[in-house]
Amino acid sequence: MIAGNLIAVFGILIYKVNKKTLKNTLYQTRQFSISVIFILLILCTGALVSQVFNFGTANNVLSLRSSPMRKNFSLFYWKKSDTIENFGDKLSHILVMSIVGANLSLITAQKQREYCKTPKLLSIGSIFRFACKNDVIWGSGVLDSVTFPSKSYSKIMRTLDIRAVRGPRTRQFLMSTFNISVPRVYGDPALLLPYYLTGYKKALVPTISRLLILHYIDAKRGPAIAGNTPIVTINACLPWDQIINLILQSELVISTSLHGIIVAEAFGIPARVLASPQITLFKFHDYFEGTRRKLRYANNLSEAIQMGGEIPMKLHLTKLRKAFPMDKFEAKS
Ligand SMILES: *[C@@H]1O[C@H](CO)[C@@H](O)[C@H](O)[C@H]1NC(C)=O
Ligand SMILES: *[C@@H]1O[C@H](CO)[C@@H](O)[C@H](O)[C@H]1NC(C)=O
Ligand SMILES: *[C@@H]1O[C@H](CO)[C@@H](O)[C@H](O)[C@H]1NC(C)=O
Ligand SMILES: *[C@@H]1O[C@H](CO)[C@@H](O)[C@H](O)[C@H]1NC(C)=O
Repeated sequence: MIAGNLIAVFGILIYKVNKKTLKNTLYQTRQFSISVIFILLILCTGALVSQVFNFGTANNVLSLRSSPMRKNFSLFYWKKSDTIENFGDKLSHILVMSIVGANLSLITAQKQREYCKTPKLLSIGSIFRFACKNDVIWGSGVLDSVTFPSKSYSKIMRTLDIRAVRGPRTRQFLMSTFNISVPRVYGDPALLLPYYLTGYKKALVPTISRLLILHYIDAKRGPAIAGNTPIVTINACLPWDQIINLILQSELVISTSLHGIIVAEAFGIPARVLASPQITLFKFHDYFEGTRRKLRYANNLSEAIQMGGEIPMKLHLTKLRKAFPMDKFEAKS
């Protein structure tokens, strides 16, 4: 614990040095929000460091137990660049690693001849277009039915091992476009995070009344969206654990990033979709219908605040959890 705090203080020093970088990702409407963020970071980092330690220990125990029986199956998740990760996509790595209980071999390549080399698991994200022959799908979605390059995928689609999809719109699209069968097992796997990241809990006394999470496409529009409204605003490309900690401190999450909404709802925090002119709503409909609700979104911030959070999701997660392709990672003992 003491070591944890020392590292935390060290981390904060590094943060100050990196203020410039931080400024590029955090958009504040009021000066005071910046100090709020720093205090939060200080509060969170101590907890975080100990979680990282616990997390590591748990993983080591689990992987020791399972290592003789492990199969080397790869996970694909999407990365914006070598250094910038979108937190929703990164959560795929965090979650699947927690479920398998061991390190994974990862594929994050953007070039088809790289990511199609070996069969892989696709999980969180609108990443169907990265599917290759014989891949396994657990909870992925299609980004948009209209722009999906269907013609070049008909052969691949027949070979996929689909265990679950994000929602009924993805399922309907796949069945009607490719004439393949798709199980009616829905849910974005990020909904399972609270069951695996057990150190992360909703704050008893939230310190942020409203958190605005911007998809990286919208990141530059932060000040324009917020106007004079006091709101803590972050970009969805901050480190995943920082974003979760900020979400857990919030009373209401407003987001143009789908995973801002999903992670908030997973941890029981009210959330409202803010539509962005640059982002298609297909994936939002897909997620909301998969959790048995209709998408109701706001067109601007004041409308989002007025609407407040959506009614909680109504999906039992057992089917999704049971559909996880453990057979690909562990041989039967
Ligand atoms: C998992 O990966 C991390 C970082 O690459 C490494 O430090 C750790 O030893 C690995 N753990 C196991 C059990 O292989
Ligand atoms: C696991 O598979 C990946 C991708 O196929 C490969 O790069 C890596 O060397 C393999 N690791 C082991 C330990 O076999
Ligand atoms: C769709 O697939 C089914 C079963 O594989 C097959 O019987 C049917 O002819 C196919 N329909 C079309 C339009 O290709
Ligand atoms: C926000 O959107 C609502 C409904 O679309 C509209 O009535 C209202 O004028 C908008 N407010 C601002 C500040 O643009």
